[in-house]
Formats: sequence, C-alpha cells, structure tokens
Amino acid sequence: MSRVTLSRYLIEQTRSHNTPADLRFLIEVVARACKAISYTVSKGALGGVLGSMGTENVQGEVQKKLDVLSNEILLEANEWGGHLAGMASEEMDNAYQIPGQYPKGAYLLVFDPLDGSSNIDVNVSVGTIFSVLRCPDSNGCTGDLGDDAFLQAGTEQVAAGYAIYGPQTMLMLTLGNGVKGFTLDREMGSFVLTHDHIQVPESTAEFAINMSNQRHWEAPVKRYVDELLAGKTGPLGKNYNMRWIAAMVADVHRILTRGGVFMYPRDDREADKPGKLRLMYEANPMSFIIEQAGGMSTNGYQRILDIKPTSLHQRVAVFLGSREEVERITGYHQA
Ligand code: F6P
Repeated sequence: MSRVTLSRYLIEQTRSHNTPADLRFLIEVVARACKAISYTVSKGALGGVLGSMGTENVQGEVQKKLDVLSNEILLEANEWGGHLAGMASEEMDNAYQIPGQYPKGAYLLVFDPLDGSSNIDVNVSVGTIFSVLRCPDSNGCTGDLGDDAFLQAGTEQVAAGYAIYGPQTMLMLTLGNGVKGFTLDREMGSFVLTHDHIQVPESTAEFAINMSNQRHWEAPVKRYVDELLAGKTGPLGKNYNMRWIAAMVADVHRILTRGGVFMYPRDDREADKPGKLRLMYEANPMSFIIEQAGGMSTNGYQRILDIKPTSLHQRVAVFLGSREEVERITGYHQA
C-alpha cells in the first residue's frame, strides 16, 4: 500500500470533511516548524543548544536556549503565510502581532514551543504542543490583536496537536474527527501516517503523577492515590503501576498509546494558582486530543474544554486519560 503523508491526509480531509485550504496550510507550516525543532533538539551539545538563556519567561520559569529557539522557529515559520491573525506562546507575555508587511488570516495559533524543557539537558523526550482557534471577530481580526481574542473555551478549537521528540519524532493531530499519528521519515523529510485509529483504552492500571507533591494535594487526590497504592487488597481491587516522565507531551503520548491516567492537581504551595499546567498551551490541546481518542479530561470539577479562560497564561488542575479512572477521580472531587 502506498504511504499516506501528512500532506495527502490533509488534502483528503479537505475532500471528505471540507477542511479549509488555509487550515491545511497552517498545519503543514506547523509540521515543518516541528521538523526544524526536532532537528535542532537532536543536535544537543553538538549544536551548542543545551543549557539556559539566563532569562525567565512570564511564568517566572528559567528559559532554556531551546525554549527560545523553538519559539523563534514557530513564529518565523508562521508569520508570513497570511493564514494567521496572531499567535500566543507560553514563552511570551502577550499576543504576538503579525508584522504589518504580511497579510492576516482567519486563525489564531497558540503553542507551547518546547514542553518539558527540563528534560532537554538529560536527553529525555520533549515536545511541541499547539492549538488552533478562529479569530473571534466576524469582520476579520485586521487591527492589533488583544490577548482577549484568544480567551475562548477549548471547545472552540478547530485543530490541536503535538510533536514528540523522542526515539522517533511523531506528530499527533486532531481536526475534530479522531486522532491520527504521523512518524517523521528523516530520509524523506516527511511525516507519514503510522497510527490511524488511536483510542485510549477505557480502563487502565497505570497512573502518572509527581508523587513528591503528595503532602500538598487536596483531600480527593490524596484519597484516590492512596487507593491506587493500596493495590489488589485495597478498595480498587487491582495493582497499579506508576510512570512519570515530567514532560506532559511524553506522559500523554504514553496514555494515548496504551492507556493510563495523568494527574497534575492543584496544591497548596501557591494558593492563587489552580495547578501548574497552562490551560491554553497545554491542557486545552491535550484535552481535545484525549477526548477525540475516546478518553476524558477534567479539572476535578468540570470538563477542561468547557472552561472559559480569563487570562492567556491561566493555570488549571488536570486529570486526563482512560475514562474509568478520570470519572472516578472527578467523582471524588464532587463527593
Ligand atoms: O508545564 C511543564 C511541565 O514540564 C509539563 O510538561 C510536565 O508534565 C510538568 O511540567 C512536570 O512538572 P514537575 O516538574 O512538577 O514534575
């Protein structure tokens, strides 16, 4: 059988699901940028790209050189094509304006250029997460774009995906009708469809959480994790295994592949911040992907995709993955 490249998949989507040509172009440009990031990441010490910049981002996190490089790669790739009205990045304080010399388009691109960047220097998987929204102004977003244009619930996303830079570079994509996985063929330089039908198993015996924060969790999370740890003789009646890669992309990728439940709960370290992960750059795109693969995603109290954002860098608690377990932990929050 002939190979289905990302380009062919997108053209077939235009025929079967009326995917607009400018959205198709947008995805191709993002994929091209991810190839460039993959190449840059793979150079490691040889490319002089490891280590920190000595600066902090808006979240107060130390920026790695590769955070900044990946951000630049995505901005430069996407600013000139006429498909975007603006961009927002985890690494930038405010919305990025399309430079005046270029035409503007109908879409907004939101991204975390290099997720899990603490893994870079130890040669463990990292990734790029992206989300696509429509410009909310029906007359077109022609003037300067405010942050508020991006403050749309996750249900408004028209596409979302991530690239994982691991033993293989893969691009996982949803356009709202299932999730497809593409593997980068480095010799040919193209993403090839290798995972056609991605479904998160309903039940699982694997969980992912940073256990070192246990003492800071809220009661429902403590209860749930105690029950997981109690194993076969506990209330859940089975033994669970634990995995934590500390890059959301890699943990979610494992869950998409073989099931599991991922948790980053709110905790009492910073009372004003509901969780560590970012709603717009991490939780929304990953929740869209997980739901499209038959899984579930909540903040313990409500579906993540229904949350109306109030700021660009808003944080949120995240419970996502195999439906049975996400239902259980969400139920414990509501008990
Ligand atoms: O938000 C960045 C991130 O690196 C996620 O990708 C990951 O899931 C999480 O933080 C890891 O957090 P911690 O360092 O607390 O384990």
